[in-house]
Amino acid sequence: MLARASEHYRKELRGSPRAIDYLKRRGLTGEIAARFGLGYAPDGWRSLASAFPRYDDPLLEESGLVIAKAPEDGNEAETKRYDRFRDRVMFPIRSVQGDVIGFGGRVIDQGEPKYLNSPETPVFSKGRELYGLYEGRSAIRQRGYALVVEGYMDVVALAQSGFGNAVATLGTACTAEHVQKLFRFTESVVFSFDGDAAGRRAAGRALEASLPHASDTRTVRFLFLPPEHDPDSYVREFGAEAFERCVAEAVPLSRQLIEAARSDVDTATAEGRARFVVQARPLWSALPDGMLKRQLLGQIASVASLPVEELAAAPGRRVPRRRHGPPPTAHGPRRRGARCHASRKTALCGRCCWKAAGGASSAPKTTRRSARWKAGTARRSG
Ligand code: UTP
Ligand code: MN
Repeated sequence: MLARASEHYRKELRGSPRAIDYLKRRGLTGEIAARFGLGYAPDGWRSLASAFPRYDDPLLEESGLVIAKAPEDGNEAETKRYDRFRDRVMFPIRSVQGDVIGFGGRVIDQGEPKYLNSPETPVFSKGRELYGLYEGRSAIRQRGYALVVEGYMDVVALAQSGFGNAVATLGTACTAEHVQKLFRFTESVVFSFDGDAAGRRAAGRALEASLPHASDTRTVRFLFLPPEHDPDSYVREFGAEAFERCVAEAVPLSRQLIEAARSDVDTATAEGRARFVVQARPLWSALPDGMLKRQLLGQIASVASLPVEELAAAPGRRVPRRRHGPPPTAHGPRRRGARCHASRKTALCGRCCWKAAGGASSAPKTTRRSARWKAGTARRSG
């Protein structure tokens, strides 16, 4: 059904000089438009009626192509149906297997919302799918890395400039599932963000999503463009070589982790260094066991001006929850006063100690427990 709609939109694009002109003005050739199967949803309420035998087919509604509005009195017979996408350039979103699973539609020139996306359906989950992954699979293998950007247009424009290895999240934050999926195709991921505040926030979430998957054989890097640019505008203004240089200078995950943990603290003061340690802990803890994790312990200790042994022995406190949800940790939220798993098993703990499997800590057990824990036990046993 979605494939058929996609065909319909492609056909409509061929018949719309206005939409073709828009794509040309954005620097796209017909070849790239064809590679991504770009289309056009005409400006009518029931354009899809000409592509499907039954416009009231419930599947059209389920697939998110048609919106059905029943009247207030609930009289089903008078349900109003109309196309979700009207007068928009259409970006089909494909699964890794190449099936169309949803659409993003952009207004031509100005209008709100700028992009309209298919709703979540059984086959379409924004937290899992990446735009351009199907189209970019071979380029990802060839270039040796996947480039993760924020917009549909960025993916298409980068492909036009020779970066066929770009993929985009679908207007949502990058999730650990996204990252896991990418690592099925490559050992190296480069995130590209706008240099503005929103880009930094997005980078923070991408860092958290990447940490659990950052094993020693993989690399994750972060590229920050000047605030006024996105990859599309940057590559169009400065060219592919300049963008290539940005990729080469992308910041590795290890440095990004440290930067994220100290972004809002003054490490020239003891207070700032203490807060840095508290903020670095859950990030560090989300890393899989390995050399990278050990390396980072040393780096964190160095920024904190503490010997590694001190850091490893340091009892921790719960990190205050941030606005965007809890920081990633190796174990779920712990009951206040509950014992840390990490002190017994090889599991990792990010909230109350710096212990890794075979960890560096040689401190006696009691120093690893928080004062609150001790107070709690004392109360219970007393
Ligand atoms: P941007 O607003 O950065 O747009 O949204 P863009 O990709 O640079 O688009 P152009 O260059 O103006 O065409 C980035 C992504 O956020 C999602 C889309 O996935 C978009 O590609 N988005 C944005 C929406 O889902 N809805 C919107 O209204 C805007
Ligand atoms: Mn853009």
